[in-house]
Amino acid sequence: MSGANQPATAAVLISGSGSNLQSLIDAIHNGDTALLTTLVISNKAQAKGLQRARKAGIPALCLENRNFDDRRKFDRALARIIDAHRPDMLILAGFMHILSPEFVSRYRGRILNIHPSLLPAYPGLNTHQRVIDNKETWHGCTVHFVTPALDAGPPVIAGRLPVAGNDTAASLAARVLKIEHRIYPIAANLLALGRIRCENDRVFLDNEPLPEPIIYRNGTIKP
Ligand code: GRF
Repeated sequence: MSGANQPATAAVLISGSGSNLQSLIDAIHNGDTALLTTLVISNKAQAKGLQRARKAGIPALCLENRNFDDRRKFDRALARIIDAHRPDMLILAGFMHILSPEFVSRYRGRILNIHPSLLPAYPGLNTHQRVIDNKETWHGCTVHFVTPALDAGPPVIAGRLPVAGNDTAASLAARVLKIEHRIYPIAANLLALGRIRCENDRVFLDNEPLPEPIIYRNGTIKP
């Protein structure tokens, strides 16, 4: 995705803490990625991620969806801002807004999201509590390409961890978040390098179909 020796540019969409945004900023500062974050947009004015972006010298804007009477109008305004910056890709990092099919189609194949479960299990909210309630033995997080169906786009990397008997939703959330911070920069870098792509809802890695996500476990990646 990056041109000759040019890093790929990304707009990161956030709503809250922005710790995943921070993991991308850190990867850029450490020279670990072919990605350059050129824009951060929050749909919440109070999002701490806006301060993280500004501290890193990244233009950071707020577009509050509560100021729009209709989701599509918000999405169109969002697309206008994004298109003015012409990023190569969009990274959803805790962006708590369901994007319209029109928006997703506009950037199809160029949007990544991270979700705190092993998709396709547990789409939606409260994933950690639902995992505990169902006595699951494994949990984790997934980076996936975004398609119009919520949390259902094809997965790229899944970070797995065993659920301990004494885990609570809070302890699981903290452990999963640490893994999110490891796998999101890896996935974003693969897209920035043009090593992954999504076609007809299938992921290709280095031009080979990737029928199962890359697995991250115990600090190791297994393609
Ligand atoms: C993460 O758990 C992410 O998986 C989910 O929202 C949370 C965002 O956290 N989509 P942060 O704002 O990156 O700290």
